Amino acid sequence: MTGRNGPALSAVITLAVVFGLLLNTAMNESKANQAHATKTLEQRVSALLGEMTLAEKIGQMNQVNASDHEINDHLREAIGAGRVGSILNQVDVDAVNELQRIAVQESRLGIPLLVGRDVIHGFKTVMPIPLGQAATWNADIVREGARVAAREAATAGINWTFAPMIDISRDARWGRIAESLGEDPYLASALAAAMVEGFQGEDLADRGTIAACAKHFAGYGAAESGRDYATTNIPENELRNVYLRPFRAAVDAGVVTLMAAFSDLNGVPATGNEFLMRQVLRDEWGFDGFVVSDWDSVRQLAIHGLTENDKESVYQAVMAGVDMEMAGESYLDQLEDLIGEGRIDVAMIDAMVANILRVKFQLGLFEHPYTNPAELPAIANEHALQTARQAALESVVLLKNDRGVLPLSAEKLNSVAIIGPLADAPYEQLGTWIFDGDTELSITPMHAIHSLVGHELDVRYLRAMENSRSRASVSFDEAVEIARESDAVILFLGEESILSGEAHSRADISLPGDQAELVRRIRETGKPVVAVILAGRPLTLTNIVNHVDAILFAWHPGTMGGPAIADLLFGVESPSGKLPATFPRMVGQIPIYYNQKNTGKPPSPDTVVHIDDIDAHAPQLSFGMTAFHLDAGYTPLYAFGHGLSYADFEYRNIEVSASEIGLGDTLIVSAELMNKGDVAAEEVVQLYVRDLVGNVTRPVKELKGFKRVRLEPGRTITVDFQLHTDDLAFFGRNMQRMTEAGQFHVWIGGSSETELRTEFRVVDKD
Ligand code: BGC
Repeated sequence: MTGRNGPALSAVITLAVVFGLLLNTAMNESKANQAHATKTLEQRVSALLGEMTLAEKIGQMNQVNASDHEINDHLREAIGAGRVGSILNQVDVDAVNELQRIAVQESRLGIPLLVGRDVIHGFKTVMPIPLGQAATWNADIVREGARVAAREAATAGINWTFAPMIDISRDARWGRIAESLGEDPYLASALAAAMVEGFQGEDLADRGTIAACAKHFAGYGAAESGRDYATTNIPENELRNVYLRPFRAAVDAGVVTLMAAFSDLNGVPATGNEFLMRQVLRDEWGFDGFVVSDWDSVRQLAIHGLTENDKESVYQAVMAGVDMEMAGESYLDQLEDLIGEGRIDVAMIDAMVANILRVKFQLGLFEHPYTNPAELPAIANEHALQTARQAALESVVLLKNDRGVLPLSAEKLNSVAIIGPLADAPYEQLGTWIFDGDTELSITPMHAIHSLVGHELDVRYLRAMENSRSRASVSFDEAVEIARESDAVILFLGEESILSGEAHSRADISLPGDQAELVRRIRETGKPVVAVILAGRPLTLTNIVNHVDAILFAWHPGTMGGPAIADLLFGVESPSGKLPATFPRMVGQIPIYYNQKNTGKPPSPDTVVHIDDIDAHAPQLSFGMTAFHLDAGYTPLYAFGHGLSYADFEYRNIEVSASEIGLGDTLIVSAELMNKGDVAAEEVVQLYVRDLVGNVTRPVKELKGFKRVRLEPGRTITVDFQLHTDDLAFFGRNMQRMTEAGQFHVWIGGSSETELRTEFRVVDKD
């Protein structure tokens, strides 16, 4: 995969060409507008299809990597001949305009190009990594982040992003968990829809909106042992109840494209999986956009061992419903023969090409093929930076805060030591998948702390380690020295950006390098120690958690991570992020997730014994026969939904509007939330349900609602949720989605560990 991330071409276009483009745009616009006025979308699609040769149809199904510095003759010629439907990875607007010009003016039918790019969590202005955005539990800020990203990307001529990535993952070893929205299908669905709305806007044809792509369809996040690209085995019931749900939500939100996953799902790689793309996506969900393969994943069907050669791979991918091939060109090479031999019906190809053309029409590309950046908002404008800052602020999770060591008080302290490899690392704080992210825009925590409190406090900084993986502890004595001279220490620890993302999985997810040793040494000074952790995944923090007083988990927070973190450290704002994924104590607990099944032998505190406490004289009798690990128990270090605040929130008086409701009815569940602390703060209130009996076993808790609320000190509010019986539906043994009558538990609280519970019954009145 060379050249995918290559720097953009800086094409020189003469004034005459620019003038020509504009003139042509005007002509195109008026022609297209006339056509548009009289024909419906489907009529336009079929009229165009009717004019296409088979070779031109196959060309639309071909996506080509265009990241080279120079537009090469081969690409010009291929586009001019109608052999390219889409390009990816060209981000120089002049080059993109030139390629569009060739498509529109030199190809026989003038079909504009889809211009794709991985705009995963921002373009130049970078939002927190998607997993961090999920920690905001705030669909509005997530939607706005995508909107900002779309507008910035559109200035480069990009009209299609390969996001949102909505693979459910219960495995923090998997490097791509960083790109995901976490472990929970309800949260991921809500935020997936918000991202789609943000990228695509109200109308895809508007300037500054781009097509979204829900990926990777499906199951990729369940890679065995978290090793990227590894096999996944997911029973259909689990697939439907967990992994497919965010995709359904994205389709319902109007996403116009999906990407097939690289991975092998139950023996049939996703790129050749007819069940996924034809049965579920088209027949059941009625999707009318198109599916793109992943990078060369069509030809990889042979490497998986599903097919013998490229030709058979193309056959399988087309039959399964992959409308466009990314960066492989095997459709171009093989499809005509397969159709000629009568193995693939041309009607099937027509339907697939129509899916692609439909999106091009919806994007308004025929009317506006060219990009004039001046018509779009400026890159990194005030609103963009403010959105990135707010997203970062809401994404940071306060994992622990002993004796209220946080927030630090600029008035009470005279000095503070900032130590660690990630305090002043403009690139690292942006995280994975930031092809276009501008490190010049990054404000690091070190700089932000200086500007926030530098005039009041003595701020001392030492990087202490070259990077998060360093094993050279030569600077540790100096770090200890600085810590001793200061009133408090803030350690900036975690993972550099390269340690998460695609093909960057880890088997050990503790702090890499000598960071734990640094923590231990600093601890010995006896100073208050706050750890701010920047990382692309949940980490196992067991070996440091008792050596620090407070932990702020900041993910890779993006461009404006620094100011957000500084505001939280010094109490300008209160933390309000909540974990979108469980933090294990030890890597061996993985997969560990809150919405697990009960088992026939559920563990409880009185059945658990630690390996060190086994009674040598009566080993078998000393503990219960339940589902736990002898060396890790059964609870995580931090549960899904966990996140502390500087306020002191108390939940009480949970109530349901009725103890019994009929199928089809709506229940109101409410609880009081009181801020007993002395600062105003935001809190994410969470609603969980357990269906006690099902024709397939149901999880011990399932998220069914959440609300972010702000509460002044001393105030109490009632938070309520509407729960329709459809919200309780699940796929049962026969793979039909249904709500079963029966008894339900319901909780409201500030994390999945909430014990504030009541119950209700659903009855079938017929
Ligand atoms: C990734 C996709 C990405 C594509 C294009 C692949 O390796 O799996 O998520 O969109 O490359 O860059």
